[in-house]
Amino acid sequence: MKRIEAKHLLGLENISTQDIETIIDVGFTFREVLERPVKKVPALNGKNIVNLFFENSTRTKISFELAEKRLSADVTNFSASSSSVKKGESLRDTIQNIHVMKMDCVVMRHPIPGSCLQLSNYVDVPIVNAGDGTHEHPTQALLDMMSIKEKFGKIKGLNIGIVGDILHSRVALSNIFGLIKLGANVKLCAPPHLLQRHIEDYGVSITYDVDELIDWADAVNVLRIQRERMGVGLIPSIREYRKFFGITSERLSRHKKEIVIMHPGPINRGVEIDSQVADGDQAIILDQVLNGVAVRMSVLYLLLGSNDFD
Ligand code: CP
Repeated sequence: MKRIEAKHLLGLENISTQDIETIIDVGFTFREVLERPVKKVPALNGKNIVNLFFENSTRTKISFELAEKRLSADVTNFSASSSSVKKGESLRDTIQNIHVMKMDCVVMRHPIPGSCLQLSNYVDVPIVNAGDGTHEHPTQALLDMMSIKEKFGKIKGLNIGIVGDILHSRVALSNIFGLIKLGANVKLCAPPHLLQRHIEDYGVSITYDVDELIDWADAVNVLRIQRERMGVGLIPSIREYRKFFGITSERLSRHKKEIVIMHPGPINRGVEIDSQVADGDQAIILDQVLNGVAVRMSVLYLLLGSNDFD
């Protein structure tokens, strides 16, 4: 049985390259399970997993729940909007109350960066970060890297572009940490005010010209404009953003070579990406979603599993 060193999945910055490779490899094994007529294995039979979502989610929430059920775990869902958080209860009290109910693992999405690390100080079970504010979204990056590996057969040496609102994006940060560890070349493209200062220190390069990015890249991960995290006025207009940074079908058709298009969702069609591109042959967006279930099964199995599966 394969193992990882990590006790939690808080992010990809502080996890070993070997652990990332193992999670992706085991993800491919679970991808094969998802193609079977019976898409379920007894790997986490008897384990209780609680999904704590303090922030909205479609893909990640459904994907974790499905992954847990496919592994035969017992699943409890918590949504902050219908909980005692609304009455002023602290994160610590919420977690400690849930913990004494004998949960074996906590999956958490929270708007505050570092909240998953904080949670790991309160409870002694594996914590999986499902997105902590603008910090990290490790399982999204793992599913992105698994999808790149599925498409190209490798990650090392590939040119991977990331375009969009990098500043507010936990997806960008986790992808940067993971891709650099696995030997990819990473280039970022965004308006200057939507990029962190000194982000080159992480080993990435920068361009402000999306056509240059497309010429350089084997694959481009397109990020949305996070209007909920930014104040008003950071983008002069959606039309101007689309003109300079949008992945439009007209722009792609001007480039000779075909690149792979990725998007973590949710998509703002007609803003950062055209519908024809998102739904076209170059896009692997729905493969990313399927790989998300497989890679989350892998993470939970490697953190919690004691039973072998076949
Ligand atoms: N990609 C992603 O995190 O989507 P959700 O916000 O819908 O979970």
